Amino acid sequence: TDRYCVIGNPIAHSKSPRIHAQYAAELGEDLQYEQCLAPVDGFAATVARLIGEGYKGANVTVPFKLEAARLATRLTPRAQAAGAVNTLVFDGGEIVGDNTDGVGLVADIVRNAGVSLDGKRVLLLGAGGAARGALLPLLDAGPRQIVIANRTLATAEALVAEFADHAARLAVSGFADVDGPFDVIINATSASLDAAVPPVPATVFGPDTLALDMMYGNKPTVFMDFAAGHGATVRDGLGMLVEQAAEAFALWRGKRPGTAHVLASMRQSQ
Ligand code: ATR
Repeated sequence: TDRYCVIGNPIAHSKSPRIHAQYAAELGEDLQYEQCLAPVDGFAATVARLIGEGYKGANVTVPFKLEAARLATRLTPRAQAAGAVNTLVFDGGEIVGDNTDGVGLVADIVRNAGVSLDGKRVLLLGAGGAARGALLPLLDAGPRQIVIANRTLATAEALVAEFADHAARLAVSGFADVDGPFDVIINATSASLDAAVPPVPATVFGPDTLALDMMYGNKPTVFMDFAAGHGATVRDGLGMLVEQAAEAFALWRGKRPGTAHVLASMRQSQ
């Protein structure tokens, strides 16, 4: 039985063990997936222990995604672009770091929500780790333009400067002066944690807008309520969670599980 886990602090509420157990059952893969609480100053030691015990890989969550990128001996291009790692593969002496959050987000928008990003105008709210992780996979999905709006303009400008190859399709804006409407709006700020909404004008939303909050919980976020109140179709981050897990599973096992059953069962128990 191959062993995997999700490393974080705190970790007790992680949904990943349940998701991966369902994927393993569905594909008949003989694996075990657990939670792993690492001390805040003990991430590297925890990874060393897991490797010593023969684990094949791990997911990484708050607050260790940046440290995981530094610890990896090799990064995939999308992990490099994200500057953060959510999936580790322990491969002989190598610690390979990947980031499946962005592809998971795109898969959720395109496959689950059924909204193509090709030729579309996208508004990305936030310029922190979550926004950074999403940017390259979003660009790869072929939108006409991505406007990055952030409370601190300089952070958004610094992020765009790192993606100079894509400068023609990227723009930066403050919240108040975002020029809508947009086909797809992604809230990658952590504002929902404070029950706050990035103060964008209601004109960003149109009747065909998909507004997605990367956060999820047992009720819609304040951002989702705001967007729905202005006619947008709304979506939380649960689909992204399920899709990033499927991508990690594929990386480890060479088979990508279907996600519809898992997403439906997570929604029911939310
Ligand atoms: P994460 O990994 O969740 O992205 P982060 O890197 O700390 O966390 O980034 C948090 C993001 O949420 C930033 O874009 C932050 O804006 P600033 O760059 O101006 O700090 C944004 N954010 C946090 N709280 C917010 C709030 N109440 N309103 C608007 N934006 C907020």
